[in-house]
Amino acid sequence: MARFTLPRDIYHGKGSLAELKNLKGKKAIICVGGGSMKRFGFLDRAKAYLEEAGMEVALFEGIESDPSVETVMKGAAAMQEFGPDWIVAIGGGSPIDAAKAMWIKYEYPECTFEDMCKVFGIPELRRKAHFCAVSSTSGTATEVTAFSIITDYEKGTKYPIADFEITPDVAIVDPELAETMPKKLVAHTGMDAMTHAIEAYVSTANCDFTDPLAIHAIEMIQKDLIPSYNGDMAARDRMHNAQCLAGMAFSNALLGIVHSMAHKTGAVFADYGAHIIHGAANAMYLPKVIAFNAKDPVAKKRYGVIADYMHLGGKDDDEKVALLIADLRRMNDELNIPHCIKNYGADSYPTEQGFVPEEVFLERLSGIAERAIGDACTGSNPRQPSQEEMEKLLKCCYYDLDVDF
Ligand SMILES: NC(=O)c1ccc[n+]([C@@H]2O[C@H](COP(=O)([O-])OP(=O)(O)OC[C@H]3O[C@@H](n4cnc5c(N)ncnc54)[C@H](O)[C@@H]3O)[C@@H](O)[C@H]2O)c1
Ligand SMILES: [Zn+2]
Repeated sequence: MARFTLPRDIYHGKGSLAELKNLKGKKAIICVGGGSMKRFGFLDRAKAYLEEAGMEVALFEGIESDPSVETVMKGAAAMQEFGPDWIVAIGGGSPIDAAKAMWIKYEYPECTFEDMCKVFGIPELRRKAHFCAVSSTSGTATEVTAFSIITDYEKGTKYPIADFEITPDVAIVDPELAETMPKKLVAHTGMDAMTHAIEAYVSTANCDFTDPLAIHAIEMIQKDLIPSYNGDMAARDRMHNAQCLAGMAFSNALLGIVHSMAHKTGAVFADYGAHIIHGAANAMYLPKVIAFNAKDPVAKKRYGVIADYMHLGGKDDDEKVALLIADLRRMNDELNIPHCIKNYGADSYPTEQGFVPEEVFLERLSGIAERAIGDACTGSNPRQPSQEEMEKLLKCCYYDLDVDF
């Protein structure tokens, strides 16, 4: 038996933000990030629509990127005090993910952060509030997924909360919000979406319901991401849908070790001055993981299908896998994303010597590999890596070496 869960309603297309005025309720709290939504006028518009719906509206502002446990607890306390029956989260993955975790704590004040992290262990929500997510980046697709990523800064680790209970009730996928993204955000979030779609397609939990969503997302992203990056707003609009399709796929098919490795390398070198941004980490590791996973015959065949849909040519699956890897590397080049950690600058751009020194990487390698193997995304990867293989794989991601094992 398998389950396939999505929001009850997904409003999409230009102007769909206005659907907020049709929500039925008494009190709405809007959860939002550091300022981009306010700056571009979307926050004011959202508030006005909710007021038009006859609701009293409160704001919870200033949710930081890679939101913390503390922010989640603060937001939940604000909800306790205000008593909303709608939680409306607007912005990128960060504010929406934080609001999902606040929702749990609001409904179950005795629930600790540790309780929330028990995979598929969230008690029944919607006793106090329903949840509407409005995404402003074209990548995480958290507006339709069963996931929320919260960072415990004391432990220096990101924790995924995973349960269909936190799949939003309503998603609004309005491309107007994505049009204000700066180029770098387009590149990173776009390659995050590509990774979601490819990992979902080869995941061991893939099924007839997730495959068409993943494949169509891959075709769209291959066609539209570079033009969107270069300022083509029609392509930018289509990317907003494409990332959502990828999210619908991976929320139900799960992911793989590209994400395991990205989760465990993201903040682990922060003491050297930067994070490896989620989407950039995925973009660098994806070609390496494809080469590793393609040793599994079922996965190899599936990568071959992906290459076919991308019209890459190739006379057999080995050639198709090689062409797929080459095409993803071409996309990284065009998006100004490096191919390996060694060349990843503190500003995320390619550079001769990046911000992670070789000796620091080697010193931390075995711990990172161990934690990556233990990540929630590893279980659905088509090939289960040993400690030694994971270390070798991470080395290939540091030095940009070919994966031949
Ligand atoms: N829940 C999931 O399923 C899931 C999946 C992948 C990643 N994530 C998590 O999501 C977070 C990353 O989310 P993100 O990549 O969407 O970025 P983000 O929400 O962290 O936002 C990044 C920056 O972009 C700005 N921004 C957002 N939208 C903008 C717009 N339209 N115009 C201009 N600026 C804008 C924000 O203000 C912020 O400064 C990470 O914590 C990651 O771990 C979650
Ligand atoms: Zn991701």
